[in-house]
Amino acid sequence: MPTSTPSPPAKSRRSLTFLAGFLKNPREVGSVVPSSRTLVRRIMRLGDAAGSRVIVELGPGTGVITKQMLAEATPDTKLLGIEINPLYLRTLQRDIRDPRLTIHRGPAIEIGEALASIGESSADLVVSGIPFSTLPKQEARETLERVRAALVPGGRFVAYQFRSEVRRLADPVFGRGEMHQGFWNIPPMRIYVWRKR
Ligand SMILES: C[S@@+](CC[C@H](N)C(=O)[O-])C[C@H]1O[C@@H](n2cnc3c(N)ncnc32)[C@H](O)[C@@H]1O
Repeated sequence: MPTSTPSPPAKSRRSLTFLAGFLKNPREVGSVVPSSRTLVRRIMRLGDAAGSRVIVELGPGTGVITKQMLAEATPDTKLLGIEINPLYLRTLQRDIRDPRLTIHRGPAIEIGEALASIGESSADLVVSGIPFSTLPKQEARETLERVRAALVPGGRFVAYQFRSEVRRLADPVFGRGEMHQGFWNIPPMRIYVWRKR
């Protein structure tokens, strides 16, 4: 069941697909290459992915974090990816076949409906790569409200972002979050962590 390390051609193909998605929609994708291994590890550790039964990933892209989370998750983990880019949706569906994963086609704001579709009302962890700085402000605020509503008490919201706009938007919703930086990634990303009180 766990996903193995991809062969170089498969990895290059996914990087090209990612780049093609960026060139078509740069504001929505927000990054030219998928997240680095270092960034993925830090996101998972900060969010306690290994100790989470229900995980939502907003903007899985070509699945670099998705695969790693599945590799480290327990057999009863449910992982829900929410993605809007049709090119990435095709790649995810072709490359990752794992009964623990469900992909919802649509915007992150639909997190509540997407959780209901897998028989869950809440998540332990929400990981997000969607560029909050380029979302329309009202949609960004509403998405964050819905993320908070979807978390269990003590649940974590982990957002890796190039810009700091997310902090201005999310601190009023969750209370002050933590910020982590200083690890290898192109572009340089910060990881923000909020906990639902
Ligand atoms: C920075 S990329 C991260 C991709 C991947 N998770 C990674 O780490 O390489 C942002 C992703 O968010 C997706 N996205 C952007 N806005 C979205 C939205 N409102 N709802 C769902 N996905 C969105 C993009 O299509 C893209 O896949």
